[in-house]
Amino acid sequence: MRVLTGKESIETRAVWFERGMVRMIDQRLIPQKFKIVDMADHHEVAEAIRNMTVRGAPSIGAAAAYGMALAARNEADLQKAAEELKGTRPTAYDLFYAVDHMLSSLELGDDPVKAADAYADQVVERCRLIGMHGAELIDDEMNIMTHCNAGALATVDIGTALAPIRRAWTEGRHIYVYVSETRPRLQGMRLTAWELYNEGIPHSIVVDGAAGHYLRKDVNLTIVGADRIAANGDFANKIGTFDKAVLCHELGVPFYVAAPISTFDFSIASGDDIVIEDRSEDEVTHVGKERLAPEGSPALNPSFDMTRAKYVTGFITEVGILRPDEIDKVRREKFAQEGEL
Ligand code: MRU
Repeated sequence: MRVLTGKESIETRAVWFERGMVRMIDQRLIPQKFKIVDMADHHEVAEAIRNMTVRGAPSIGAAAAYGMALAARNEADLQKAAEELKGTRPTAYDLFYAVDHMLSSLELGDDPVKAADAYADQVVERCRLIGMHGAELIDDEMNIMTHCNAGALATVDIGTALAPIRRAWTEGRHIYVYVSETRPRLQGMRLTAWELYNEGIPHSIVVDGAAGHYLRKDVNLTIVGADRIAANGDFANKIGTFDKAVLCHELGVPFYVAAPISTFDFSIASGDDIVIEDRSEDEVTHVGKERLAPEGSPALNPSFDMTRAKYVTGFITEVGILRPDEIDKVRREKFAQEGEL
């Protein structure tokens, strides 16, 4: 991804391995500060996933793959390391997929860092293909809404929901992006807007409550990411996604979910089986360090919501754009790649 640091423009990934360390952009500080942080063992990587230094399903998966590589290099107990990494966040399936993928690779005797690098490279290649397929949905002069951050920060590089947007822009289409701010952690306002700004893609931030207003009059297409997609096409994504899906359905706006096959969990039949992460109520009651809610008023803070497949126009994947009733193609591809059904 391109990052404008003030003085220069640099190309970077969200997470990578260098000089014996896992390195990542501290996403909690963007856009105020661009800081790279280093991790020397899998415990530090697990903490970085938990505290959202790194976030977004495919980036969490890649970070965990590198965490497993560190565990192997440091001769830690691999099963315990896998459990620790998997215990950090419950909803994003890429985390579980990546850790199991690394366990299999390490059992086969693969070099730990090479195996994790190959995993991260594969994530980026999947995003490139998602961009290629998804860009076909975007015509000149289109207005597109997205929610949360499913960009390069969330996927090592390029993005899932942002991949078709980047590609259409690079191919010369005039587009405009409505970025919903994504309370309470503001991944839309802080991260997606930052990525679009760095690329020079025209956009505006809108508050979450303004989605219906703009979907009714301006938006032609909505693309979001996903944290876990069940076998029937129900999926979990950042809280507020479900509202947008229902609004799009009501208003006739096509609603697409962009995700790589690592996000599809065929072991669960429907979205009812997806565990939704609850986070601290402080994220809701406080802005920065200051509490704005009345003392004594509790808050609820589900990090994700679940949307039924019936609201999804299509899934933009690396194997093409699929209707919810066509996602068995993803299952077959996964089996071909991993022997997983
Ligand atoms: O809590 P986060 O910031 O990790 O949540 C991220 C999202 O919900 C993204 O939309 C999802 O992980 C897809 S990222 C390509």
